[in-house]
Amino acid sequence: MRIAIGADHGGYPLNERVIQELDGADHEIIDFGTHVGSRPDDYPDYAVKVGQTVQRGEAEIGILICGSGVGAAVAANKLQGIRAALCGDTYSARQSREHDDCNVLCLGARVVGVELALEIVRAFVNARFSGEERHKRRLKKIADIESAENRSGSAATAKQNRERS
Ligand code: RB5
Repeated sequence: MRIAIGADHGGYPLNERVIQELDGADHEIIDFGTHVGSRPDDYPDYAVKVGQTVQRGEAEIGILICGSGVGAAVAANKLQGIRAALCGDTYSARQSREHDDCNVLCLGARVVGVELALEIVRAFVNARFSGEERHKRRLKKIADIESAENRSGSAATAKQNRERS
């Protein structure tokens, strides 16, 4: 499977360990760094890189790691069609794929230990969307929320532009 991965300074060096694990399992990795834990950087930048790679279909799933995983999840979920799951346990990781068809896993490197993080990654990567009707129905409702938000966002921007001119 092709997997995009990105981490800010708070997610380093767990990202390196996750990449090593996925490499060992013969996955193809698109690595957006960071490879420097000592230089403060911004998790939204990684969320955009990983999220857009998934949006374009260049990776099947993405993995984002920051200190808590929260910022990365918030940022990634702003991208259309991205369903990012912040997971600290294997049950949620598996179910986020089987039920919610999540396409990005977020981890908090300052919250979960390395071995648990690797278990969570395995659970997420190896699970598949069940395709059951009830889950499709709920995903459709999420997509509808996204579309409605886009429409009202566009209307608000158009109104602002009219007021400015
Ligand atoms: C960086 O210090 C930290 O705020 C970031 O990695 C992340 O935890 C944000 O949610």
